[in-house]
Amino acid sequence: KRVAVLISGRGSNMASLIAASMDPSFPAEIVGVISNRSDARGLEVASKHSIATRAILPRDYDGREAHDEAIHAALCELKADIVCLAGYMRLLTPGFVQKWKGKMINIHPALLPNFRGLDTHARALAAGVRVHGCTVHFVTPEMDDGPIIAQAAVPVLIGDTEDALGERVLKTEHRLYPLALRLLAEGRVRMSSGAAVFSNVAD
Ligand code: GRF
Repeated sequence: KRVAVLISGRGSNMASLIAASMDPSFPAEIVGVISNRSDARGLEVASKHSIATRAILPRDYDGREAHDEAIHAALCELKADIVCLAGYMRLLTPGFVQKWKGKMINIHPALLPNFRGLDTHARALAAGVRVHGCTVHFVTPEMDDGPIIAQAAVPVLIGDTEDALGERVLKTEHRLYPLALRLLAEGRVRMSSGAAVFSNVAD
């Protein structure tokens, strides 16, 4: 499967997908990386791997729909089958989400449905949860909503800071995202009637 990754910044999850895809047995190839910011550090990382990159900036378009249409056109040019959001910090328009229904996934740094949105690690600490983690889910129009494909948990340790907890979660993100992409690319998970449906594929 041909996979495009949407980023806004550092791109460490994107890098983990690129690394995973280098294994010949991985069922997906990263064919392009698109950012809504020209200064996203992940763009350089992708270029170094000779992956096509594009910065598609909101200010060059008249409104959110037009911006998302430009992204859609770029994805079609790349002949992408699957879209992975990896730290893409803009809410996508319902029309765009509809076009990629069941083919677009996101990683969120919390155990959904807890702590949707930003500052998840600070909020987890403030809430006093003892277990935290990350989630890969299908993208639906609501932010950080959508059927869950995979989750990984980490302990919250006594005396944890936001940074220490965030780093622990990020390490698990880098393992979880390739695993979830593999499930989707191999057709072992799909979205049906708003639910994630899992199946085994006969070898
Ligand atoms: C990650 O924590 C991801 O879960 C969240 O944004 C962060 C992006 O980090 N959606 P990176 O750009 O992948 O390094």
